[in-house]
Amino acid sequence: TGDPAAAALPSGRTSDPTVASLLQDISTIGTDTFRGGYSRPVFSTAETDLRGWFVEQAGRRGLDVHTDQNGIIWAWWDTAARTRKDAVVTGSHLDSVPGGGGYDGPLGVASALIAVDLLKARGLRPRRPLAIAVFPEEEGSRFGVACLGSRLLTGSLDPDKARRLKDPDGNTYADVAAANGQDPRLIGADYATLQQLGVFVELHVEQGRGLADLDQPVAIGSSILGHGRWKLSISGQGNHAGTTLMRDRRDPMVAAAKIMVSIRDTARKYRDARATVGRVQPVPGGTNVIASRVDLWIDARHPDDSVTAALVEAIGLNAQVFAAEEGCTAAMTMESLSPTVHFDGGLRSRLQELLPAAPVLATGAGHDAGVLGPHLPTAMIFVRNPTGISHSPEELVEDWDAEAGALALADSLAGLAGD
Ligand code: GLV
Ligand code: MN
Ligand code: MN
Ligand code: MN
Repeated sequence: TGDPAAAALPSGRTSDPTVASLLQDISTIGTDTFRGGYSRPVFSTAETDLRGWFVEQAGRRGLDVHTDQNGIIWAWWDTAARTRKDAVVTGSHLDSVPGGGGYDGPLGVASALIAVDLLKARGLRPRRPLAIAVFPEEEGSRFGVACLGSRLLTGSLDPDKARRLKDPDGNTYADVAAANGQDPRLIGADYATLQQLGVFVELHVEQGRGLADLDQPVAIGSSILGHGRWKLSISGQGNHAGTTLMRDRRDPMVAAAKIMVSIRDTARKYRDARATVGRVQPVPGGTNVIASRVDLWIDARHPDDSVTAALVEAIGLNAQVFAAEEGCTAAMTMESLSPTVHFDGGLRSRLQELLPAAPVLATGAGHDAGVLGPHLPTAMIFVRNPTGISHSPEELVEDWDAEAGALALADSLAGLAGD
């Protein structure tokens, strides 16, 4: 064809792009041969490459692209859209958890690009401005605070605190943002942009078995489970593995093991609660060294925020007891907290009119749509994941479901922004 962009594709493909082909184009970026799946931490080479890919794809579609002071990429339908209010915005994120799947985030971004293609092919002339947004550090995998970009945008995270956040190598967010061409002095609440946004609709891979069990490709989101992260530091006495008698030890690893079992058992006492320890870091971390300290991170979730608070308090009290049993001490600090979010009822009803076959599902996963929720009507569209597994290489979306998702997104955007 005469389309140079299509001819330039690495696969040599010249047909119209699809969600699957877009995901195929980025399938080699950020693969993790050690963990399996993808590791695409924010501002890593991989995530930066993905952002570059998105900017290029948006440019091909004639969108007006810019990256704001908080690292959010905006791709407006046209230059006129860029300054108008009541915008209809879709999008998601390109960063991943360590060893994550290929869909959590990128599916929403690729679907947004294909939805734009579908709307352009239909000759849509949007009545309201349309845009795609790509948010940085949705997973909080590098700096510990999930949805960092949307939290900065909405002013729900103190920029001073954000600047001081450190990644596991000790680099501050301020330094990493600066190395990525941003001015860290300018991060923080961006009410001018926020006031432009009319609605936000995030398409996302479903992260459970809801749609697989219902035998449906696409659902509309109802709510996001309240969730938070806490860091627990257990301190003991670092010592020699060979010369220290078992009775003489104050070993924080042993305390951590007891505490982790007690976290599981405590969470089981609260109906609908979830508590996870997914990351443990012994200091200094040597095979022949009794650790001096163990840091572990707790992810706790419950639909009722007061239950989450009670659960975390119980976890903290138990941690004191089990630490003391091993001659250690324990100190817990909150890293982030997101209350349960119920998506806007009016917007959800509108999506139900536009997507009459789609069931309505809640999710236990956090999303930028949840952080934006208190500021403007937000909604989510979930796409079937036949494995029901997420934050793992086994996360899956079948090609035909991905296209059904993009079509549902296009229909939703057309219904919201069209005439
Ligand atoms: C992000 O995906 C989260 O829910 O932790
Ligand atoms: Mn996600
Ligand atoms: Mn995720
Ligand atoms: Mn998420």
